[in-house]
Amino acid sequence: MHTIRLLETAAEMEQLEELQRQVWPGSETDILPAHLLVTLAHNGGLVLGAYAGEKMVGLLVGFVGLYDVPDGPRPKHCSHELGVLPEARDSGVGFALKRAQWQIVRQQGLDRVTWTYDPLLSRNGHLNIARLGAVCQTYLREIYGEMRDGLNAGLASDRFQIDWWVNTKRVERRLGSQPRPALTLADFQAAEAQSLYPVDSTGTFIRPPENLAAPGGDLLLAEIPTDFLQLKTADFELARAWRFFSRELFETCFSAGYLITDFIFDKSSDRPRSFYVLAHGEATL
Ligand SMILES: CC(C)(COP(=O)(O)OP(=O)(O)OC[C@H]1O[C@@H](n2cnc3c(N)ncnc32)[C@H](O)[C@@H]1OP(=O)(O)O)[C@@H](O)C(=O)NCCC(=O)NCCS
Repeated sequence: MHTIRLLETAAEMEQLEELQRQVWPGSETDILPAHLLVTLAHNGGLVLGAYAGEKMVGLLVGFVGLYDVPDGPRPKHCSHELGVLPEARDSGVGFALKRAQWQIVRQQGLDRVTWTYDPLLSRNGHLNIARLGAVCQTYLREIYGEMRDGLNAGLASDRFQIDWWVNTKRVERRLGSQPRPALTLADFQAAEAQSLYPVDSTGTFIRPPENLAAPGGDLLLAEIPTDFLQLKTADFELARAWRFFSRELFETCFSAGYLITDFIFDKSSDRPRSFYVLAHGEATL
């Protein structure tokens, strides 16, 4: 069982520096320093630690930011880092940190939280979109330039920017005391969601198609690899092919008016599969 704590002191921030080194190894200049974290914590930022006993196993860092609407700038919360020690993953630590952030940000009177993540990371897609109820219609090409840390080095730093509208029923249904059960691949197939393209599943890792068909229909499924980091280590050229294919895919779909509304991690057959759900207009489940 883990607990979530608000962090404030220099000693806690030094522990958090160390935890970042373990989550994003290999590049000291990519570590948020203790002095910045203390400043954030004392000036409207949010620095959370997740603990298993007295050991810090997860972190979340965010701050109040602005976004533009026609009337002028509005406040939002910008979530910058979420990380969990490799050995503590898949036991709900990431979800617990985001849930604590949800509660605090709502108390601050804010409606919107944004953050970025690599669209090809299936675990992050499942957590951000399916479990937390964030949505996405923004694709950012190479937003962080060349990244140097061990998780990101070597590939274009394309990201989704996602929107988490924290006061909506959609989010409440997922984070409230009686969360909705996750929808399955079968649920979406029953709702006539169409697969946007076939993948080639004959090798160890799935391959994207050569060409992308024009998107049509109200509810689409877009398959991605289930373990992109493993794929990247085993077959870097294939990882690049997925980066360029998915860039075209999501840019095309977003400019055609689609919105990512759900994520499916399907473990019902021998080969686990991961899909984004893209909806047009009002077509959500
Ligand atoms: C992303 C990250 C923070 C998630 O933390 P976590 O503690 O593992 O998250 P949780 O356990 O709450 O949720 C993970 C979910 O993904 C699911 N999952 C595991 N492997 C998966 C996969 N290959 N595809 C889809 N979902 C997967 C888990 O089953 C779990 O879902 P469930 O609670 O419905 O069972 C963690 O993996 C991490 O630190 N990654 C490296 C850094 C990073 O990418 N940070 C985010 C961008 S800054």
